[in-house]
Amino acid sequence: MSATSSFDDRAQTWDADPVKQERAEAVATALRRQIPLSPAWQALEYGCGTGLLSFALRADLRRITLADSSPGMLAVLDQKIAAAGLTHLHPLALDLLTDPPPAERYDLIYTLMTLHHVADAGRLLRIFHDLLRPGGWLGIADLDREDGSFHGPGFTGHNGFDRDALWAQLAEAGFSRVEFCTAYVLKKMTDQGPREYPLFLAVAARPIVNGGIG
Ligand SMILES: C[S@@+](CC[C@H](N)C(=O)[O-])C[C@H]1O[C@@H](n2cnc3c(N)ncnc32)[C@H](O)[C@@H]1O
Repeated sequence: MSATSSFDDRAQTWDADPVKQERAEAVATALRRQIPLSPAWQALEYGCGTGLLSFALRADLRRITLADSSPGMLAVLDQKIAAAGLTHLHPLALDLLTDPPPAERYDLIYTLMTLHHVADAGRLLRIFHDLLRPGGWLGIADLDREDGSFHGPGFTGHNGFDRDALWAQLAEAGFSRVEFCTAYVLKKMTDQGPREYPLFLAVAARPIVNGGIG
């Protein structure tokens, strides 16, 4: 089963898990603390799923494009946006590793628990850099390096990320002002019993050329 069809299958029940709601709220709080969000900003959430994080940030931003490669996730998101009567949240079917990038440029790009599903994470970071306006911000929330027990056998993505290695990848992609904090600690029952998995939030800025935020 492909990663996309697995997410398609889980989309209808995704929001029934209170942990997913709680982690999205925690990451929204950390993003507000680490990045000077503006209600004038246009943002892209990448790997939005059912939109939990963008719903938590909906009052903080002018317009949010919510991108995901799973049609099932996007169908649930469509229903939620219509039910809430929101006109500034816009779902988009998109896989930046295979599709052409959108023409828009963003003040902010953020992503939650998606980077570990992307094989060529460095390439995605370079695409994010190019999609940001100079001076724009990136926020990545994902698993710290773990032993593979989070997804269990058969998972082909990243077993979390080493913060120093990701810092270097962000710098290589052209970002500056890189900072990490712990945004949430996810508790999960595994084959070895209950485990805790910290989630980092990495923030970084696309530099303004010719002086500015360096
Ligand atoms: C673990 S879920 C997280 C969903 C949401 N961010 C949340 O925290 O509730 C990962 C999401 O990334 C999406 N995804 C995985 N690979 C992707 C890709 N290459 N491009 C776009 N979305 C992708 C999946 O469809 C899924 O919705």
